[in-house]
Order: sequence, then C-alpha cells, then structure tokens
Amino acid sequence: MGMDAVHPRVLGYFGRALSLELTAVQQYMTQACLAELWGDPASAQRFRHETVEELRHAETLVQRMLSLGVAPAASQLRPAGHGRDLVELLRQDLALEADLVALYAEASRFCGLAADASNAALFQQLWGEEQQHAAQLEAWLQSLVGPQALLPDRAMF
Ligand SMILES: [Fe+2]
Ligand SMILES: [Fe+2]
Repeated sequence: MGMDAVHPRVLGYFGRALSLELTAVQQYMTQACLAELWGDPASAQRFRHETVEELRHAETLVQRMLSLGVAPAASQLRPAGHGRDLVELLRQDLALEADLVALYAEASRFCGLAADASNAALFQQLWGEEQQHAAQLEAWLQSLVGPQALLPDRAMF
C-alpha cells in the first residue's frame, strides 16, 4: 500500500481527524483535572477514561497514516474550554463529539465514493465509536439536568 493509492482528500481527513482527536485528549484530560480540583473524583475518573479512549483513536490514526507513508502532523489544537461546572463541561464535550461524528461521517462517505474500502472501514469504525461517546455523554448530562434542559442547547449544534 503506497501513498500514490490514496486520494489527497483522504489524507486531509486523516490530518483533521488527528487534530480533533488530540483536541479531545487535551479537553478530557483538562476536565479530569478540573473535576479532581472540584473534589469530584468519580467524574474525574470518567473523564480519564474518555482521555484514554481518544488517545487510542489518535494512535489508530497515526498507525494508519504511517502505513500510508504520511507523517502525522496534527495542527490547530483547540484550547480546552473552561467550565464553571460539570454541566458546562459536558455541553462542551457534546459539541466536540458532534464535530467528530460529522467529520467521520463525511470521511467514510468520501472514501466509499473514492472506492477506498480500507479507509472507509476505519472511518466508519471511528464514526460508530464517537456516536457511542456522544450518547453516553448525553445520558450523563441528562442525568444532571433532566431531558427538558437538553433541548435548547442541542438546537445550537
Ligand atoms: Fe475519538
Ligand atoms: Fe469521542
């Protein structure tokens, strides 16, 4: 498998995906530290678990990029937002997960059109896992604020 076999746009998706996954690592790691500072070790542990999941995604992307002959070069990490409470953090996380879901949806669709089955499968797998993250975070947020309070903010996505 060589770089010449891959559509340049697919390489672009890999670069954007790595930037977003590393942004997620930074964000969840920061939130784990914040929760710890707030005296909420249970939430800190959940955020640590998310950090590891996103790190594994970044690693999966790096492995595939190396096998395609491209150097991983993430750029433009978004700053981890500050939140005043858990609800604010979870809203930021849902926005980030929504961006990941949208990116992987587009990337897997494009790879399918470009007859790149192997990268389509990888992006589809990541797409499914980010959808699971989003659903779990949404359930967590819902357990804090109730279903009614979710609706106005979700409209902003
Ligand atoms: Fe991820
Ligand atoms: Fe995620």
